[in-house]
Amino acid sequence: MSEIMETLIRRGFLWQSFEIYGGMAGFIDYGPLGNGLRRRIEDLWREFFVVNERAVEIDTPTVCVEDIFIASGHATSFTDVAIECKKCGRVFRADHYIKEKLGIEADETIESVKEIVESFDLKCECGGEFDEPKPFNLMFETKIGPGKGKKGYLRPETAQGIFIAFKRLADYFRDRLPFGVAQIGRAYRNEISPRQGVIRLREFNQAELEFFVHPKEKTHPGFDTYANDRVRLVDKNGNEYDLTLKEAVEKGVIINQILAYFIGKTRRFLLKAGIDDARLRFRQHRDDERAHYASDCWDAEAFTSYGWIEVVGIADRGDYDLSSHSRFSGEDLSIFVPFSEPVKVRRKKIIPKMNKIGPAFRQKAKKVVEMLSSIEAKDADYVELDIDGEKVRVDREFFDIQEVEEEIHGEKVVPHVIEPSFGLDRITFAVLEHSFDKDIVDGEERRVLRLKRWVAPVQVAVLPLLSKGDFEAKAKEITVMLKAAGIFTEYDDSGSIGRRYRRFDEIGTPFCVTVDHQTFEDNTVTIRDRDTTRQIRIGLDELIPALKELLSTEKDISEFGVIFKE
Ligand code: ATP
Ligand code: GLY
Repeated sequence: MSEIMETLIRRGFLWQSFEIYGGMAGFIDYGPLGNGLRRRIEDLWREFFVVNERAVEIDTPTVCVEDIFIASGHATSFTDVAIECKKCGRVFRADHYIKEKLGIEADETIESVKEIVESFDLKCECGGEFDEPKPFNLMFETKIGPGKGKKGYLRPETAQGIFIAFKRLADYFRDRLPFGVAQIGRAYRNEISPRQGVIRLREFNQAELEFFVHPKEKTHPGFDTYANDRVRLVDKNGNEYDLTLKEAVEKGVIINQILAYFIGKTRRFLLKAGIDDARLRFRQHRDDERAHYASDCWDAEAFTSYGWIEVVGIADRGDYDLSSHSRFSGEDLSIFVPFSEPVKVRRKKIIPKMNKIGPAFRQKAKKVVEMLSSIEAKDADYVELDIDGEKVRVDREFFDIQEVEEEIHGEKVVPHVIEPSFGLDRITFAVLEHSFDKDIVDGEERRVLRLKRWVAPVQVAVLPLLSKGDFEAKAKEITVMLKAAGIFTEYDDSGSIGRRYRRFDEIGTPFCVTVDHQTFEDNTVTIRDRDTTRQIRIGLDELIPALKELLSTEKDISEFGVIFKE
C-alpha cells in the first residue's frame, strides 16, 4: 500500500466499504476527514458553476424508470467490452487489460478486442484462454414496486434527470438561452473489474452542469476571463500544445469558444481545489473513444500514482439528448427563440373551405380545420390527417393553397448542451495526492498535507500547551468561539505539543492556535502556520477576523503579527 493510502486510511479520510464482511471492490466509505474535504470541494464547485454562472441547481431521483435510458441510448450503448477467462472465470474490462498487459490502446469495439486477443495470443493472468469478447452494460438494474414491478436502473449520470425536466427548467428561465442546470449527487456504474482502488468506483459522486445554448451561438460572454490562460492540451490525434485558450480557439485546436470557456473555468476550479497545474492537462477524446451522445469531448486529466486519470469530462452533447427524449416521450422539447426583429417570409398556406368541410366531416370538422391550418402546405391532391388515431383523407376540394406573406417573430430551437461533468471522488483523491508532501522539521521527517486552506476538513486546531485545567478550559472556550464563527475547528489536548502539531500537519490543518502561559497575562494566543511552521502572537479579540482572512486567502501570517518563532 502506498504511503499516502496508508495515511488516508489510518487518519480516517476513507476506507473500503463493508470491511467487516470482507469488502467489495468499487465501494468506499468517506470517514470524517474525507467527507469534510469532499464536501468543501463540492461547495467550491457550486461557487464556480452555479453561483457564478447563469445556472441553477436541482435534485432528481437516483432510481430511474427504464424509459429514460431507452431514449438516452444508455440501455443499448452504455457498454464496455468484457473478456472472461474460460479457466478461472475472471472477467476483465478488455481495453484496460490490453493496456495493462500489452501497452496498446485498443478501440472499444468487439472486433478490435477480438483481433488483439487473437493476434497477441493474450491469456488470463492464470494462464487460461479467453472466451469471445462480449458487451457488458454498466447500469445497475433494479425493479420498482412489488410483484413484477417496473424495470428501472440506478442512474449512471446525473445529467438525465436534467434533460427530462427540461420543459420546466426552460420555463423557469423564461425560455431565454443560454442557461445552465447543475446537479450534484450519486451515480452508479457496475464497473467490470475495478482494480484501481478509489479511482474506479461502482457508486460515486458527480457534479454536472448542463449548459443549454442556441445551436448557432457556441460562445460564452465570460470567455475573456480565461482567454489568456495558458493550458496544456492534447488533441484527438495525440498532438500536444501549450497555448492560451484564445490561441487554441483561433488555431482551431478547440473547435468553439464555449468549450474553451469551460476548459478555462474547469482549470481554474481544479487549481483552486488544490490540483497541481504541472500535473494537469486537457485531452480530447479520440473518435473511437467518445460516448454515444457526444460530438466532441475534452477530459481534464490529473497525473497521479495511477498515471493520467480523467477527473472531468467536458462534452458537446449537441441536441442528442433533448431530441431523443422528445422523440420517445412525444413531448416538444424545443423552445421558442424570438428574433431581435420580425422577419417577413412568403410561404404557401392551406386555407380550409369551411362551408364544405362542415357538412362533409360533421363532428370531426373542427379538428380537420385546426389541423389543416397548422400543417405545411404541399401541392398534392389530398392530405391525410391523423385525428385521434384515425387516418382521415381530406381531398383538394376542401381546401385552397395560397401564397401569403407572413411576419415571423422567432423560431423553435432544440438547444445544444455543453456539459462539464466532474467526478468529485477522483478530484478529491488527486487533490490529496498532489497535496501530500514530506519535509524535515527540527531534524525530523514530517508528513504534511498542503491542502488549500479553504478546502481543509479541519481548518484550525486549538491546543492547550499544558494538560492543566485552566489551559484546557481556555482552549475549549476558544474552540466554541471559533466554531460559532463558522470555522471548522478541533480541540486536542493529548500528547506533547510537538506531536499534536505533527498530527494536524498530517491531516492538512492550516493553522494551530495555542493557549500558553502568556495567554493568562495579556489575553493573546499563538497561531502556527502548517506550511512554514512559523508562529505569531495575536490578541484574542483579533483572532476570528485574522483567521477568516487567512483561511480565505493565501496571505502570510506575518501580515497579522510579528513572527516570534521561525
Ligand atoms: P473512464 O473512461 O475513466 O471510465 P468515463 O469516460 O466513463 O471515465 P464519464 O462518463 O465522462 O467518465 O463520467 C464523468 C466523470 O465521472 C468522469 O470524469 C469521472 O471523474 C467520473 N467517473 C466516471 N466513472 C467513474 C467511476 N467508475 N468512479 C469514479 N468516478 C467516475
Ligand atoms: N454525464 C457524463 C457522463 O457521466 O458520462
